[in-house]
Amino acid sequence: MTVKTFQVCKNLQIYLGMQIEKIFENNRKWIEEKLQIDSQYFEHLSEGQNPDILYIGCSDSRVTAEELMGVQPGEAFVHRNIANMVSNTDLSAMSVINYAVAILKVNHIVVCGHYGCGGVKAAMQSADLGILNPWLRNIRDVYRIHKKKLNKISDEETKYKRLIELNVQEQCINIIKTADVQKAYKDRDIRVHGWVFDIHTGKLIDLKIDFQKILKGVMEIYRLD
Ligand code: CO
Repeated sequence: MTVKTFQVCKNLQIYLGMQIEKIFENNRKWIEEKLQIDSQYFEHLSEGQNPDILYIGCSDSRVTAEELMGVQPGEAFVHRNIANMVSNTDLSAMSVINYAVAILKVNHIVVCGHYGCGGVKAAMQSADLGILNPWLRNIRDVYRIHKKKLNKISDEETKYKRLIELNVQEQCINIIKTADVQKAYKDRDIRVHGWVFDIHTGKLIDLKIDFQKILKGVMEIYRLD
């Protein structure tokens, strides 16, 4: 290692150390702020959770679930992964849905995609991305299902946005297909929503997915009894 490289590494280490220290400082301030408003805030928080919404979104650092919805700790059960996917064989996503629907008894499940999603962009290109290949293949499947409509769009940016929306729609269908949601629908008014976060304006857009219609179609094929 040259002296110069060593110095760069050392500076980076100091920088990262400062970044982490800042997080702990922020945490101390956050505790103070919460306690100023309610001295028993953390006592109440530790009593348990009763969220009414399950939010499934992208891991993208710019799409912060709680902040963009303006919800407080305890109000949303959150699951995030690359490109907000709900794969039937993903043990993590399936466990989250099971716990949220069957135990926490949420009434709303949201899949929130976002314009400018790197995961969807990567799936549109034919590069070898290693471990991400099987993950992004699920988005390529969305493309295949909607190939006719998508190939009619000549503008690449419009096509990219449309695939992001269609991916949200398909992930909503994957949720509706789960046994947990079908069982829950029999005894309460559970709803699945498809949203897109517009990263350019900060706006949350409801894609107005017809939950009843999809559910009906899904039950025909995937019904459990
Ligand atoms: Co993304």
